[in-house]
Formats: sequence, structure tokens, C-alpha cells
Amino acid sequence: MNKSRILRLASLLNKSPLDMIVLNPGPTMVYITGLQFHLMERPTLFILSSQGKAAMILPELEILKIKATLPDMECFTYNDNPGIWGTVIKTAFTGYQLSSPRIGIEPNRMRYLELNFIQQSVQAPQFSSVEPLISSMRIQKDQTEIKMMHTAVDIAQQALKNTLPLIKIGMSEKSIAAELTINMLRAGSDPELPFPPIVSSGPNSANPHAEPSDRKIQAGDTVVIDWGASHKGYFSDLTRTIAIGTLDEELFTIYEAVKHANHAGRGTAKPGIPAGDVDRSGRKVIVEAGYGHQFTHRIGHGLGLEAHEEPYMFSENEMILIPGMTFTIEPGIYLPGKGGVRIEDDVVITEDGCESLSTMDRDLITLSGT
Ligand code: CO
Repeated sequence: MNKSRILRLASLLNKSPLDMIVLNPGPTMVYITGLQFHLMERPTLFILSSQGKAAMILPELEILKIKATLPDMECFTYNDNPGIWGTVIKTAFTGYQLSSPRIGIEPNRMRYLELNFIQQSVQAPQFSSVEPLISSMRIQKDQTEIKMMHTAVDIAQQALKNTLPLIKIGMSEKSIAAELTINMLRAGSDPELPFPPIVSSGPNSANPHAEPSDRKIQAGDTVVIDWGASHKGYFSDLTRTIAIGTLDEELFTIYEAVKHANHAGRGTAKPGIPAGDVDRSGRKVIVEAGYGHQFTHRIGHGLGLEAHEEPYMFSENEMILIPGMTFTIEPGIYLPGKGGVRIEDDVVITEDGCESLSTMDRDLITLSGT
């Protein structure tokens, strides 16, 4: 699978003005090569020319990973003496055009450390962003990728199901987040979660990006739980809002509005329409319920090897949806001082609509908390 992506990338490079691409560790390196490295002080680089010539520069101690995944890859290794790194990197670049090559890099990933080594290895390199080209590949998930995301969703859902019975009045947001994290690992999540779970209760739930605090949950609280698991590099990102005891009437009203907005978004998403339509359809429901100003974010974002990636689901986005795109649908209403509600699902665009990978109940879950 990964070899075919390397070939596809080379053919796209060939049709572009770029002579080569240089990647450092991150989601795109995983996507193209299947190789997962931590971004550390040791420079690790994947080079691919528009002619299809590929090489890896990496620490000697990582070589087994390559042997297992891409045994034919040409490798340039170095030991822990930084004094030789520059020479090894220069040798690796010898097989490529060395005079003013146009090099594609990821602006959000490439660091001064690696750029500096590249500048010392080739003459007058011209760097440009390879982001649009990479995004055009990564934005459309194949069946294998969708299966991995499905597993990441299943793991997360199982973890919340196992956590709900533990939630009691007097328990802090932090301890609920801790239980949920343990349950995700037990349910089979890879150790590196896409993000630490958000558990926000009562007035705290009116902050869409709250961090779990020491606040103890009380009767009458909405508790927003935004969490996700990871499976072979692919992420899930879900939100459910639960009620502790009886909610005040307005919180119940906003719950219903958010639930309908989530439903409208999922009902609208299909191939051939602009991404913005999904946001607008959900937003319309919330505006009509009288809470337009309390829905303060876009309806969702792309999801895959990153917790946030293309396509971004904001009203003005004219990008046309195509089968295989995966993203979240997560409308919310936030009432400062009172509480908030968000319901988030992970969906994939199919041939004629969209399928939700997450299936957990969207009706209000009420816990007695006793
Ligand atoms: Co999200």
C-alpha cells in the first residue's frame, strides 16, 4: 500500500513544478511511507524526487523500522555524534539535482534544523509549500483508512460506555477524564491519543475548549465529553453531552436544537455539494431556535491522521465534497454562566450521501449520579 503511495506522489511531483519533496516525521510521512517516527532532536528525512528516486536519512537505531516496512528503501544512517550528521545528509542529497532544486516542504512541519542541513547539502534550494498537493492525496480516504477510522470510533465509543456508570455527583471533571483515558487504552486505543479528553461540567461546559478542572459535578449539570481514540495513526473525535439529574428547561431546549442541527448536518452532507452547505444547514436549525449567536464555531473539521485537517466545515468553504472525505459534524450551543451542549459525530462521504462512523445514541443521556 505504502509503496503505491510513494509512486503516486512521485507522479504528482512530476506534473508539478517541484523537483523533489522532503518530509520530516509526522502524519504525511506515515501516510506516504507507513513510517512513524517521533519528531526529535535527531533529523529524520524522507526524500523523493519527481523521477521517483526515494531515500531516508535516519538515526542508525531506527533502521529496523525501515527493514520491516520498506526493505528496498535506500537509507543513509548516522550515529549519535551530531558532528557527522551534516556529512551524512549531504551524501544522501548527492543522488539528486544539486543546483537550485525546487523542493516541496510542509510549512507546518519542517523545522529550521532540517532546512539548515538541506541548505548546506544543495546549492540555492528554492523551497515551496507542498501542502496543496499532499492534501489532494490525503483528503480522500480509501477503504483501508476508513476501516481504521471506524475502529478508532468503536474504541472511543466502547470507552465512554464503560465510563458512564462510574460518573457520580461529587466526582471531579479531572477524574472522569482519567477514567475515560484508561478505558480508551483498555478498549485498544494506541497509546498516543489524538488529544486529551475534554470533560466540562455545569458553567464550564459553556466553554467549547475547556480543560478538565477540579470542579465536582452536581445535579442539574450538563457534562460535555469530547474525546477520541487512535488506531494505527488514525483518529476518532466524538462529543456527547450528558445530563446529571434534571436539567433546567433552557438547557433541555438547547440540547434538542443541537441534536436537530447535528441531524441536519448529517442529512445534508453528500458528494457534489460545497462543504459550506453542511455548516449552513446545521446553523440554520440553531438560528431558528434563537441561539445563532451562541453557536460560536464552525460545524466541523476534517479528521484522519490528524485531529484537524482538510476539509474544514465552515460556511464560506466552497470546496466540493467527494466520496472518501471524512470529517466531524459537531454543532454546539454555549450559554455563558449556565452550560453548554455539543454533539459530535465522525462521518464519511459515500457515493450518495454520508455515513456516520459513530453510532452512539444522540438522545439525551440522563444519569442520576447517585
Ligand atoms: Co472535533
